[in-house]
This record gives sequence, structure tokens and C-alpha cells, in this order.
Amino acid sequence: MRSFIAGTGSYLPERILTNADLVGMVDTSDEWITSRTGIRERRIAAPDQASSDLATEAAKSALKAAGIEAGDLDLIIVATLTPDYMFPSTAGLVQRNLKATKAAAFDLEAACTGFIYALTVGDQFIKTGKYGKILVIASEVLSRFIDYEDRNTCVLFGDGAGAVVLVPSEDGDRGIVSTHLYNDGSMSDLLIAPAGGSRMPVDEEAIAKRLNTVKMRGNVVFRIAVEKLSELVDEVLEVNGLKEEDINFLVPHQANLRIIKATARKLKLPMERVIVTVDRHGNTSAASVPLALDEAVRSGRINPGDMVLLEAFGGGLTWGAALVNW
Ligand code: UT7
Repeated sequence: MRSFIAGTGSYLPERILTNADLVGMVDTSDEWITSRTGIRERRIAAPDQASSDLATEAAKSALKAAGIEAGDLDLIIVATLTPDYMFPSTAGLVQRNLKATKAAAFDLEAACTGFIYALTVGDQFIKTGKYGKILVIASEVLSRFIDYEDRNTCVLFGDGAGAVVLVPSEDGDRGIVSTHLYNDGSMSDLLIAPAGGSRMPVDEEAIAKRLNTVKMRGNVVFRIAVEKLSELVDEVLEVNGLKEEDINFLVPHQANLRIIKATARKLKLPMERVIVTVDRHGNTSAASVPLALDEAVRSGRINPGDMVLLEAFGGGLTWGAALVNW
């Protein structure tokens, strides 16, 4: 039994933060940001918006696309590293907002790979027959955890949410073909928000040192991302007995256009077969893959019969992929 993606949805906050805006905030340039990352602008949530608000909007559009009522949902999973609260879960708040009264709900944290992890978990519930209608959302309001005086990170990240609805596939071939998850906790310090958890609660010192914001050894993470994503491509092809030319579309995590291009080269895939949103969204962590997927589906680029590879890499360090026969 395969899990079928019955509908996709996404939501982006209205406010746009451009590279030109950032030039006025830190020592950077549009030339540096675009040439090193491919990012031109990113979205920033309104002061009264939190992750559950973005998630709810993305969920509504995915449910509408799937033709499924919120009241019929069995499970809601929200992948996020920027939850509304430590607890209750963001998924629980989405369940309330949607009036999805029948649905169980929980959050999942696997940083930028969160959506791939959440999709994999949802897929297991469908495969075992435990649940039949599952909402998988990834939502981030990263702008609340960024130091806008740190040029190493503030130019990279943005806010947004994406969602999919999973149901059992009626056509045996269509749906999630395989999923692949990895973590290497020995590299957890490379990408981290040190304060705000039980190890270092937010206090005056943490705030003064901005330890509640994202810290990243960017160039080290970059090198490992290219290496691990290349290995992952090999694994997905081998496990499924496929060749590079069998993949029709790549929907990558949108962290850096140079990383995306390296993965596309590995797949021998021309860039018109790669879904790129990093220029307009920046890095929205877990939300980046479902945001890009929704854009590609709604614009008619991805169609039934296409073999689509979703992949992501991020804090943990985590990485993973899902192959979907659309
Ligand atoms: O989503 C989770 C996974 N994250 C990623 O995959 C991100 C991976 N890393 C990257 O995308 C890249 O490493 C970055 C875009 C973060 C940085 O690009 P880089 O080519 O690796 O640059 P770098 O960190 O090696 O820095 C090169 C120079 C440094 O100056 P010096 O030491 O050579 O004088 C930085 O201080 O660029 C400087 N720099 C900047 N200059 C202008 C760093 N940030 C900026 C900036 N504007 N915003």
C-alpha cells in the first residue's frame, strides 16, 4: 500500500524583506547574497503571526486541493523548529483552528529535514492501515530566532509554511515509493540555537549574547550537505533500481542555489527540471520543500506520472529524501 499525496498547499506571509533592505542592516551586499546563496528576498511573518497561523493557512489550501474536510482527518503532524510554544504542540493548535476534532496531533522536530521526516512518519501510518487521512505540515517563523546583526545568518532565512494531505493510494503505482532518513548527532553544534531549551533556558545573559538565535558554521555545513545529498541520490536510485534519467523533477531543500545545483548535476537533471524557490523564499527550513512542491504542482509543472525526488539537509545534522510517483 502506497501513500498518495491527495493535495498540496502553502502559505507565505505578506511582508517581503529584500537584499536591499538587509544592506541597510548589516555589512553585506546584494551581489554577495545572490552570488553565494541565490537568495533575492524572503518573507517575514507579521508580529501577530506564529507558526500555527501559517500552518493553518497552508493546511486549509491543501485540504481544499485534496477535497477533504478537516473533520475527517485522522492525524496532523507539524514539522517545525519554531513552534508557537514549548508546549502545547503547534499541531494541536492547528487541530483547534481547523476544528479537526477527530485528529490526533503532534509536532516533529528534525530541523530543515523536518518535512521529509514527517512525510515518512505519515507514510508509515497509512501503510499500516492505522490512519487513512493525514495532514503533514511544515511551518516556520524563523525570523523570531534570527540575529539581524549577524550577517552570516540573517541574510539566509525566511518564514513560510507548506502542507500535504496523505491518503491510501487507489492506484498501486502512484504515491510515496521510498523514504530515506539520516542523522549525525556528532555534528549537532554546527547548526544550533543554543538557548531556549532545558540546557540553557533564556535568561538575560543568553539574550545579551543572542544565544536564542540560529548559529551556523555555514561553510562546513555546506560541504557536508553536498556530500551527503550526493550519497543520498545514489541510494534512492539504487534502492529503487532506477537511473538518473528516471527522475523527472527534483524538489530540493531551499538553502542555497549552489547546493541545489550540485545535487541537480549529480542527477544529470537540467535546471528546468529542478524546482527553485530559494530566490524568493530564502531558507524556510522544514517548510521549504512543501512550499516548493506546492508551487510546482499548482503551476502545472509536476503532473501525474512524474517521478519526483524530494530531499533536504539541515540541523541535527539531519538529511533525508522521499521518492514520489506523482
Ligand atoms: O538549511 C540548513 C542547512 N544549511 C545550509 O545548507 C547552509 C549551508 N551553507 C551555505 O549556504 C553557505 O556556507 C553560506 C551561504 C552560509 C556562506 O557562504 P560561503 O561561500 O560558505 O561563505 P563563508 O561562510 O566561507 O564566508 C566567506 C566570506 C567570509 O569573509 P572572510 O572571512 O573570507 O573575510 C564571511 O565573513 O564571506 C563573509 N560573509 C559575508 N559577506 C557579505 C558571510 N556572510 C556575509 C554576508 N555578506 N551576508
